[in-house]
Amino acid sequence: MKVSEVRSRYLAFFKERGHVIIPSAPIVPGNDPTTLFTSSGMQPLIPYLLGKDHPGGTRVVNSQLAFRAGDIEEVGDNRHTTFFEMLGNWSLGDYFKEEQLPWLFEFLMNPDEGLGLDPEKIFVTVFAGDKEVGMEEDTEAVAIWQRLFKEKGIEAGFSNIGSEEDGYTKGMQGNERIFAYDSKKNWWSRAGVPTNMPAGEPGGPDSEVFYDFGLPHDPVWGPKCHPNCDCGRFVEIGNSVFMQFLKQADGTFTTLPKRNVDFGGGLERLTFATLGIPDVFLIDVFADARTIIERHSGKAYGSDEAVTRSYRIILDHMRAATFMLAEDVLPSNTEAGYVLRRLLRRAIRETDKLGIANAVLADVVDGYAKAHGDQYPQLLERAEKIRAEIAKEEEKFRKTLAQGMRELEKRAKDGIDADTAFTLFTSYGFPIELTEEVAKERGTTIDVEGFAAKMKEHQDKSRAGAAQKFAGGLADHGEQTVRYHTTHHILLKALQMVLGDEVKQRGSNITSERLRIDFSSPGKMTPEQVSEVETIVNDILAKDYPVIRTVMPREEAEKLGAQMEFGVKYPDMVTVYSIGPIDATEENPKISEAYSLEFCGGPHVSNTSEIREAGTFKILKEEAVAAGIRRIKAVVA
Ligand code: ALA
Repeated sequence: MKVSEVRSRYLAFFKERGHVIIPSAPIVPGNDPTTLFTSSGMQPLIPYLLGKDHPGGTRVVNSQLAFRAGDIEEVGDNRHTTFFEMLGNWSLGDYFKEEQLPWLFEFLMNPDEGLGLDPEKIFVTVFAGDKEVGMEEDTEAVAIWQRLFKEKGIEAGFSNIGSEEDGYTKGMQGNERIFAYDSKKNWWSRAGVPTNMPAGEPGGPDSEVFYDFGLPHDPVWGPKCHPNCDCGRFVEIGNSVFMQFLKQADGTFTTLPKRNVDFGGGLERLTFATLGIPDVFLIDVFADARTIIERHSGKAYGSDEAVTRSYRIILDHMRAATFMLAEDVLPSNTEAGYVLRRLLRRAIRETDKLGIANAVLADVVDGYAKAHGDQYPQLLERAEKIRAEIAKEEEKFRKTLAQGMRELEKRAKDGIDADTAFTLFTSYGFPIELTEEVAKERGTTIDVEGFAAKMKEHQDKSRAGAAQKFAGGLADHGEQTVRYHTTHHILLKALQMVLGDEVKQRGSNITSERLRIDFSSPGKMTPEQVSEVETIVNDILAKDYPVIRTVMPREEAEKLGAQMEFGVKYPDMVTVYSIGPIDATEENPKISEAYSLEFCGGPHVSNTSEIREAGTFKILKEEAVAAGIRRIKAVVA
């Protein structure tokens, strides 16, 4: 099947079963301080998984654009991509395991409504329990799966595979199809295992579905194969999370107000399972881009291992880059822009390896605009701009590459020590393999081990940084952050009053320490304008205005002039927050007269007095971040 067919069958299947189709959130969630990218379908739904009512009801389904920066180094094998679409269906306090697993099985097997996969190729995993946090084995899921397989005439054996500490060496013994794994594999939360989760984070046991491509096991990965083995025989194609627990500050878990199901399945992986071909890069959406690279390099995909690996990195990274650029992310040295730059530079190095010497990556965009344009017209609309940005970055980096080569030539005479190899990597973007290749040509020694140790130190540091950012962000559900969130709305309105209605929000980042807003504005603010904005915000805080949440049809909210987030497609029913200056109540919101009106999922304070109690609003900094975009950092203290 083609990707578009798998997607449309999935959405129709769950629509038929009472689900409302909701749009994909952007890949770069401008208003979520906890993360740089949307990495799973559940992420934009967190408030609803925590108990808030969703405007679409208790059953929703979608295909979400997702990006996982943590997988960059994995790309090159038959199944990993950093960018993908995640098919998701959710029960928000509605159905649970007993409905979810049979529906999923039906979708995978049914040739008319679903994907028509062969049940013999399906293996599943369940949660083995976790003594450390007092969680039991998921025997319910085991029983459901056994029944489902039996209905297809398959006696599904069950076994507990052991724990990560022993390397899951037990492997598959015989006729098992259902395997219980520890928290490392079968517990899902954004932070991973239960003990890693910060307070306020939801999670739960999960059950994963794997497709058996029947490749021979490679003992490099362990004595025996099993669904989570990395040898490439099994590929995970779906994950049903039974999201019912909430981590508490004291390390224990309570149950969420409602039991949820959070299903996520990689659209591209489901597609290659329908083809039975063990290579995700052979599905239709990569075909045009592949042909373009073939034309430029004169080397065929699959002709040898190194060539195939280079192709896969280019194909994956360029697709991610194309979608990011379509959302106006630009290559830079910070945050999402930095990741985009890294993707582009990695792709450029791989074109080099394929022997392509010119700037050609912009052409690959055309392949993706064609493959995805129907579903994501922004790729067609912005193709020219995306091409231009890629060409600019490619030209710039090729110059750096040339400088790096000169540096390498200079140093090669005396042998390359770990520091030099590391500098070549960090300053010139030279991977160790490239340095090794060139040094080898010159007969030079190179301290690969020293380099590896330096790299590890560097990676540990950046991982620690990322973990901190993640945890810091989640403290964001706290009181102070909620105050800043509401203040952010008031600030946007004040900016519009002082600088004009053309001011639009272009991004935000809110922590418990401060708020940050990016907005479109032609020039630097004068000190008078800054102080006028501060005065307006403080005046509003002083007035004890109620903050009111209303659910209404999108059209009505648009008519009322509610502020929208740039680049977001909203569903038919939306949540809107309004702030004073009217005598508004829940029953009589009269929000057309409201002062600030924004499409927003919350959470917010219920009255501006709660912010005033924390202090006075002050702008710390007003600066440029890009052409026509200004940034303000502000506090209430
Ligand atoms: N949120 C779950 C995942 O990403 C479905 O695997």
